[in-house]
Amino acid sequence: MSKYKIACLPGDGIGNDVMDAAMIILEALNLDAEYINGDIGWEFWKQEGNPLPDRTIELLKNTDCCLFGAITSKPKEEALKELNPSLQDKGFTYYSPIVRLRQTLKLHTNMRPCKAYPGNPLNHRDDIDLVIFRENTEGLYVGIEFHPIPNGIKDALTVHPKMKAFMDTDLNDMALSCRIFTRGACQSILRAAFEYARKFKKPSVTVVEKPNVIRETSGLMIREGREMAKKYPEIELWETNVDAMCMWLLKNPQNYSVLVSSNMFGDIISDLSAQLVGGLGFASSANIGDEYALFEPTHGSAPKYAGQYKVNPTAMLLSVKLMLDYLGENELASKLENSIASVIKEGKVKTYDLGGNNTSLEIAEEIAKKIR
Ligand code: NAI
Ligand code: MG
Repeated sequence: MSKYKIACLPGDGIGNDVMDAAMIILEALNLDAEYINGDIGWEFWKQEGNPLPDRTIELLKNTDCCLFGAITSKPKEEALKELNPSLQDKGFTYYSPIVRLRQTLKLHTNMRPCKAYPGNPLNHRDDIDLVIFRENTEGLYVGIEFHPIPNGIKDALTVHPKMKAFMDTDLNDMALSCRIFTRGACQSILRAAFEYARKFKKPSVTVVEKPNVIRETSGLMIREGREMAKKYPEIELWETNVDAMCMWLLKNPQNYSVLVSSNMFGDIISDLSAQLVGGLGFASSANIGDEYALFEPTHGSAPKYAGQYKVNPTAMLLSVKLMLDYLGENELASKLENSIASVIKEGKVKTYDLGGNNTSLEIAEEIAKKIR
């Protein structure tokens, strides 16, 4: 029996390319693990009306953690059009499998490191080393949405005086997406951020919200942030509005070490930060819950490059590093990160995004050589 059981969900498009690269690395690291492949993504939506089949959730429940590639998803109308004709009009609705996984498995903490590895020509600066903690299960991505708005919902909203402005609008001409924060989820993401800052001796935690306008939800996060900060007197609490944060991230990214935010704002500042250290080819992430965790590059399935082994596998390989840390295999994690860093520094073997023409697998092989 292997020490670990790891579910591998390559998904769609380049999810498969980068998963193959990850396997080269895991073999070189000699991790004592069994890898079990599972189904997820657009093909399963088209054929079964479900991009995240129940058998996949069962598989995850019987493993220690999951390595995930990427999936394709498309807007409502296109999703329905591509559904197998025998399933049309049967009430199937497409729902993002990755969002569902985060919610079903209660993966409340999304952690996204953005570190500039010296030698990467795409670095905005070489001294950026920040980590974003993004609440992963609620906020604006909670999935409670209406169009048209049901009468009962509109009636309920009339308790708020600001609804007067919408009383004459036809229910068909309005859409509603709910932004729900719970105190528990705010505390949980804030705690993860502060604990990380304490463990790695980071000087500050910045709460990124917009409480001057979104007074109740962003307000709850800020108020809980101030409470949480009292337990970590050695760490400075900074509060920044999300729009200003985008500006500061371009101007002085080296001043920030730990950022914490709700689901959608966290999503946005993560992509911005990723671009500061080389873009989607370098952006790794961990989705962590109390009992399970899933690791994925933050890029999507990049359909135009699918199967060409052209894309940069580094985002996926750094996600493997996060997985090794989660499993407590810190030595292997460091070995992997150092090997990745040294291949970037040498700059001899590189994918198209860095101006090279090596394949995803050649990058993985070069890193594997350093590991061995
Ligand atoms: P994308 O991330 O797939 O690709 C955008 C562009 O970024 C690519 O065309 C490519 O130029 C570049 N890129 C992405 N990954 C790269 C890598 N590893 N190395 C080098 N360059 C890379 O985003 P896009 O095109 O907006 O979405 C494509 C599909 O992926 C959509 O169906 C979208 O819904 C889905 N998606 C899935 C995500 C996930 O699985 N977590 C996340 C984001 C998008
Ligand atoms: Mg995103």
